[in-house]
Amino acid sequence: MSEQRCRDLRVEHERRPLAVASPEPRFSWVADHAQTAYRIEVVDRAGITVWDTGRVPDGAGALIPYAGRPLRPLEDYTWRVTSWSAYGELREESHFGTAPDLSRWEAPWIEPAQSPTELERWSLMDWIRGSGPTTDPSERLRPVQLVRQRIALTEAPVRARLMVTARGVYSAWLGGERVGDEALAPGFDSYRHRMSVQTYDVTEHLQGGPTVLAIALADGWWAGRIGLTGSSAQFGDRTAVTWELHLTMPDGRTEIVRAGTGAISAEGPWTYADIFVGERYDARRAQQWTSTTFDDSGWAPVAVREGELSPLVAFSGEPVRRVMELPARSVTRTNDGVVVDFGQVIAGRVRLRIPALAPGCEITIEHTETLDAQGDWFVNISGINKEQTDVYVSDGRAVEWEPEFTFHGFRYARIRGLDALIADDVSAIVISSDLEYTGRFETSDPRLNRLHENVVWSQRGNFLSIPTDCPQRERAGWTGDMQVFVAAATNIARVTPFVTRWLENLRADQLPDGRVPIFSPRSAFDDEAITTASGFGSIVAAAGWSDAIAIVPWTLYERTGDVRILEDNYPAIQGWIAFQTATAAAEVPPALAGAELSAERRERQRLLYNTGEHFGDWLTPSTMEGKPTHEAIGIAPALTSELAAPMFQAHTLTLASRIAAVLGRANESQEYASRADEVRDAFAREYVGADASLPVELQGMYALALGLDMIPDHLRDAAAGRLVDLVHARGDHLDTGFLSMPYLLDALWDAGHRDLARAVLWQDRAPSWLYEVDRGATTIWETWDAVAADGSVREMSLNHYAFGCVDDFLVRRFAGVAPAAAGWRRARIAPDIEAPLDRVSAAVDTPFGEITSTWQRRGEVVDVEVVLPFGVEAELVLPDLTLTLHPGRNEVTAASSVRLTV
Ligand code: BGC
Repeated sequence: MSEQRCRDLRVEHERRPLAVASPEPRFSWVADHAQTAYRIEVVDRAGITVWDTGRVPDGAGALIPYAGRPLRPLEDYTWRVTSWSAYGELREESHFGTAPDLSRWEAPWIEPAQSPTELERWSLMDWIRGSGPTTDPSERLRPVQLVRQRIALTEAPVRARLMVTARGVYSAWLGGERVGDEALAPGFDSYRHRMSVQTYDVTEHLQGGPTVLAIALADGWWAGRIGLTGSSAQFGDRTAVTWELHLTMPDGRTEIVRAGTGAISAEGPWTYADIFVGERYDARRAQQWTSTTFDDSGWAPVAVREGELSPLVAFSGEPVRRVMELPARSVTRTNDGVVVDFGQVIAGRVRLRIPALAPGCEITIEHTETLDAQGDWFVNISGINKEQTDVYVSDGRAVEWEPEFTFHGFRYARIRGLDALIADDVSAIVISSDLEYTGRFETSDPRLNRLHENVVWSQRGNFLSIPTDCPQRERAGWTGDMQVFVAAATNIARVTPFVTRWLENLRADQLPDGRVPIFSPRSAFDDEAITTASGFGSIVAAAGWSDAIAIVPWTLYERTGDVRILEDNYPAIQGWIAFQTATAAAEVPPALAGAELSAERRERQRLLYNTGEHFGDWLTPSTMEGKPTHEAIGIAPALTSELAAPMFQAHTLTLASRIAAVLGRANESQEYASRADEVRDAFAREYVGADASLPVELQGMYALALGLDMIPDHLRDAAAGRLVDLVHARGDHLDTGFLSMPYLLDALWDAGHRDLARAVLWQDRAPSWLYEVDRGATTIWETWDAVAADGSVREMSLNHYAFGCVDDFLVRRFAGVAPAAAGWRRARIAPDIEAPLDRVSAAVDTPFGEITSTWQRRGEVVDVEVVLPFGVEAELVLPDLTLTLHPGRNEVTAASSVRLTV
C-alpha cells in the first residue's frame, strides 16, 4: 500500500466527539500495516497522562475500552495511538471530550408563558373513524416561544460549554450567533424516560461583556402532532427548555450560568410550527430578538419549574442536520401555483429566494412525493394534521427563507404566491441524522444501480433522529421495519451510534412484563390508545417487530464486533423471551381452544408462541390484490401470524444463545440453545407435513421456515422445492411480506436455485424492485403497486426502507462481500461472477478499513479484484477456486461459463 498511516481515530465510533457519555469509552483506529502491537496514551487538558496502556502486543485496533484513571466529566482529552508492525511504527493523535455529569444538573425547566390554544388530542378510534377536528392550522396550532436570558460576563472565558435540552424542539443563539448546526434538537426520544442533553462548544461566542442566550422553542415531537393519528401533546402539552453554561475563566475558575434567573419570553415570527403540519413564518413580526442589544422590555417572565426533571441523558450519536441541498429539476407553472420537481424523494424542506413583495403577501409551499398519472398535483399522504404545508408572510423585503422547525417527505413542491419563481430561486434541503455514508455498490446495470441509490435515499430519509417507517405519514420508530433493514443499513453507512441510541429508547419503552413495543419512542398517549382500540390498534408487541430487540443488536455485532451492544441489550432480550415463553405456556390458538388435545400435542402447544394479534407477514402482495387497502392489510396477518410468531420465537432464542456465548455465559447459552431446539421441534411436529408442506401455502412462510431453520434437515430440500413451486406459480415473482422479504432470495440461493433468485430480482413487473425503478422511483416504496402499471397512484408512502433490505443481498451476493466472523475479523468474498452483469463493484466499510470487491467480464474470463485492509483474514471463493487473500490489492482472473441472457 502506498502511504502507510494510522488513521480514522475514533472514540465510541465517532471522530473527535465533544461529549462522550461512557465512563469507559472505546478507542478505534485503522492502521495501514500488519500491526503487531499498539500503545494508547490519554492526556488531559493539564497535560497529565490519565491512561497509558504501554506496549500491548495485539493486532487489534477496534473498540479498545478505556481503563485509566476515572475520566472527569465535561473535560477535554487528547489521545495518541502508536501502532507497531514488523517494519516500523505509525503514530497519530486525536481528541475527545466527555459529557457533563447530569446527576449534578441544577438548572430548572424554563416554561415560557404559553398561549392557551387548545391542543387537539384524539384517540386512535377517533382517528380510525376520521372524526378529528378540521380547523384551520392557525387555530389548532400555537406560536413558537422565544426565550431570552441575559448573561453578565466580566471577561471572556477560555473555554465554554453550553448544555441544552428541551421539551419540544429548539434552536439557540448566543451573542447573536447560532449555536451549533443541528436541526430539530434535541431530537426524538422516549421523553418519559430520557431527555437528551446536547453539549456545544461556545467558546467562540463569548468575548466578555454582557451577552444573551436566545432560544426559540417549538412543539416538536413533545407536544406537536406525531404518529399514526397525528394527535398532539402525546408527551406533554407545555414546552420548556433547560440549560447550563459552564465557563472556564482565564484564572482557571469555573463559573456556571444556569437557566432561570431573569429568563423572559415572547411570541415571535413563527405563528405556528409543527413537524407534521408545517410552519408559518410571519416576517412582519420578525425582530432582532437574538441580539444582545434588543429591547426586550415588553417580554413576559417565564415560569421556572424546579425539581421536575425527566431523566437527563447525554446525547450521543450524530445529530440531525441539513445534510444536502438539491437544485430544482423543473419548474412548471399551473393554474394553481408553481410545481417544482426536485427529482428525488427526500425528507427535508424547501429553501426559497423570495423577492420584495407587498407586506402581508403569503407564500405557501405544499409537499408531495408524487404527481398523479396525468402529471397533476396529487397528495399521497393526506389526513388532518398531515398537511405538510409551510407558509411565509412577507414583510415587504427580499429574503432567502427556509422553515426551521418542521420537515416533510416530498419530491414535488407546489408554491403559491410566487408566480415568477424560476429554478434558481428554489432548492430542497435534505434533513437527516448526519451519518457517514460509506458504502458503494455499482454494476453494469443502471437499473440495479438506481435500486441501490433508492435504498440509500430511503435510509437517509428515514434515519432522522430515530429510524422511522416513513418520513411523511407516521414517522414512527417501527421495530419491524428496522429489523428487516438493519443489515443493509450497516453496509451503506456507519450506523452504530444512531442505532445504539434508538435501542436505548426501545429498552426504556419495554414493558415490565417483557413486551418490546412495536415502535419506539412510545408515549403515554400510545399506552392509552391501545386500551380503547381493537384489532391492530390494540397491538403492543408483535412477532417479528418485538424481535428487533435481538435481531438488531446481533446484526450490529456481526457487522461491527461491538460486544457492548450485546451486553446492553441482553437483559431486554431475556425479558422478551420470558414474555413469549409465558404466553406460549398459557395460550393455545383459537382453533384449538376447548379442543381435546393429546398430551403430546398439549405439551408442544405449551412451547409455541403462536397466539395473539400480530402484523404477520405484513403486506404480502398476493393477499392484497384487488382489494381496497383497509380490507387487504388484515389478510396477511390473519393468515400468517400463527406460523410467523413461533418462527421468530425460535430465532430470538437462537440469537440469545449466541449472544450469551459471546458474553461468556455458557450455561445460559446452552439453556437458550436447547429451548430453541425444543421450539423448532414442536413447530415441526405441529406445522411441517411429512412432505415438507406448511399449513399456509405462501412463499413467505417457506422463506422464513428455511431462513430461520424451522424445517428438519431431511425435509429442507423438499421445502425448498415447494418454495420454488410457489415462486413459479407467481410467474417467478416475489410474494413475500415485510418479515420474510430478507429471507426469500437467500433461501432460493442457498438451496441451489441461484438462477431463480436472480430471475426474481430482475423482474420488471410488479411486485418487483426493478418495476419501481422502471416507474421512476427514487426511493423504496411501501407497497409494490403504490404506482400502478397504468400510472395511477395510491395513497401509500413512497419512502419506506423495509423492502430495501434487498440491498444487503446485492452486496453480499453480487459483490460477494460478507463477514465470516463478527466484526469482519474474517471475511468471505464470494462474488457472483455468474450474474447476468458485465461488472460489479462494491465497497463496504469495516472496523479495519474498507473492503472493495470488483469484477469485470472480459470475453471468456472475469477479472476479479479485491482490496483488503490489514487485520481482515479473507478467502476469495469463486466457482472453481478458493484462495486466501492478503492485505492490499488481490487480482485474479477466472474462467466464466456465463452467457448473458437476462
Ligand atoms: C407502518 C409500517 C409498520 C406497520 C406495522 C405501518 O403503518 O408504516 O411500516 O411496520 O404499520 O404493521
